[in-house]
Formats: sequence, structure tokens, C-alpha cells
Amino acid sequence: MGRIAYVNGLYVPHSEAAVHVEDRGYQFADAVYEVLAIHRTKLIDEEWHLDRLNRSLGELQIAWPVSRRVLGILMRRLVRRNRLYDGIIYLQIGRGVAPRDHAFPKEEVGSSLVMTVKAKPIDALKGSAPCKVITVPDIRWGRPDIKTVGLLPNCLAKQKASESGCYEAWQVDRDGKVTEGTGSNSWIVSAGGELLTRNIDGNAILNGVTRLAVLDLAREADLTFVERPFSVEEAKAAREAFLTSTSSFVKPVVAIDDQPVADGKVGPLTRKLQELISARLEAQVA
Ligand code: PDD
Repeated sequence: MGRIAYVNGLYVPHSEAAVHVEDRGYQFADAVYEVLAIHRTKLIDEEWHLDRLNRSLGELQIAWPVSRRVLGILMRRLVRRNRLYDGIIYLQIGRGVAPRDHAFPKEEVGSSLVMTVKAKPIDALKGSAPCKVITVPDIRWGRPDIKTVGLLPNCLAKQKASESGCYEAWQVDRDGKVTEGTGSNSWIVSAGGELLTRNIDGNAILNGVTRLAVLDLAREADLTFVERPFSVEEAKAAREAFLTSTSSFVKPVVAIDDQPVADGKVGPLTRKLQELISARLEAQVA
């Protein structure tokens, strides 16, 4: 059975799924997106993803294409139609199709909605092998807190990481502080033993759903953590480092710019958080 995509009200074969050339997502990156994990046919952290989607849409004054409740139904229907057991669902909502003009369309054109799925194993332990990262200047626009499809700087940085044999690029602001990865949030356990991840005020990062989940787990486990910017130097002197995202959960970072983090092995706190996030995932689908 081939993959099925959802495009503006229609279910179509994935290979034939297409949008209009004047779709504002295509023309201007005037669109937002979400990526949710599907585990054992269930949508993981659906409410948190839809809360963030609501925020992204609100910040850009893009209308919901269908109600939040209906979107949940459509996502489930697409998962069922694809007989998806484990994988991801990608959804993209744009300002719609209109004659090319930077200003918003004057008439109501209706938001666009595209959804696709991809089968892949969802395993918070096996899927999170240790990785290496490079650091690059953060050249993104001033609102990376909004999950827009304008991802060119992320693509350039990820390509550089890939050419350097690394999984991810940690982006660095003008003050020499790490913001986040190209598709993940950045964490360290500092030389002084503090669990650190960047704070969301200042809109310098995307507030990752996995980030929120790890903060919750840290709170429940009585681990002390601080949400604040940390420098590249602090990261390189750290005891442990890891990254978080919907598809990589808690993924250990064992080298930064070719320098091993501590002894280059996965640290104890990272391992503990990996176990906790894995248990949380399984509990959601039990
Ligand atoms: N990436 N930061 C950025 C820039 C991201 O693109 C993502 C998500 C995250 C982590 O967010 P979450 O934990 O909600 O996945 C942080 C998704 C997975 C993507 O673009 O595919």
C-alpha cells in the first residue's frame, strides 16, 4: 500500500501530493508546521503540539484551517488510512493561495492544511544513539520561537554538520551563547553539575515539546535545573551534553567541534533522563 497524504481536504497518494504555485507557504514561507511522533498508532503529546501550533498561528495571524478538535480527528484518520503503527506525522498550515503580494490577501482565501506521515521506529532508547555536534553562528530571523517553515538557515547549518560527520549544529548567538540545534534543543550538565537549557524568554529558541517533557521529568525526579543561556565554552567544559526533539528524544552529545565532552562517554544524568523519557513515552500508549 502506498503512502497517503492529506492536502486541503483531499486524501491523495503521497507521490502525487502537491500545492499550488501561489501557495504562500511556497512563495514566502508564510506557513507554520508541527511534527508529532506516532507510537503504537497513538499521537504523542498531542495537546502540547496543538498548544504550540495555536501559538505559532496566533503570532502570525493565520487562521486555523479547521477547528482544533477537527484537526485531531483528521490526524487520526490519516494515521489510520496509512496503517501507521510507529512514525511521525508532519502538518503544515499556511496563509493560503493568493496572487503573489507580500501583504496578506485582502479577501478571505482560507488557510491551507497539508499532512504527511512517515513510518519509522519510535524507540526513545534505541533511537537515541550518541552523536557529535558542531557550533555555527545563529543567522536565523528574530522569531525562531515560532515554528515557521522558513528553515533555510537551519538547512545550511545541518548540511555543514553533516559534511563534518556530525548529527547536529548548535547555533550560537552574538554573545557566544548557544541558542539551540537546527531541529532540537540543547542541554548540558555544566562543570559545576548544573543541568542547563536555554530559557524561552527573549524568543531565541523554539520551546520544544520534548524540552517541556524533560523539564517536567527533572522536576518530578527532584533534579535541579536552571533555564538560562550557556556559552560555547561552558558547553565544551561540560560534564555531559545532550539534545532533545520529537524524533530523537534525549540524544547524548559526546563531542562538540571535535572536542570530546568530558571523557566522550554518555553521562549518568543523560542516561537517567533517557530512561525517564522512554518510560513516559510507553506510559502514554499503555
Ligand atoms: N524539530 N528547535 C528547533 C529549531 C526545532 O525545529 C525543533 C523540532 C526543536 C525540538 O522541538 P520538539 O521537541 O517539539 O520536537 C527545537 C522538528 C522535530 C522538526 O523540524 O522536524
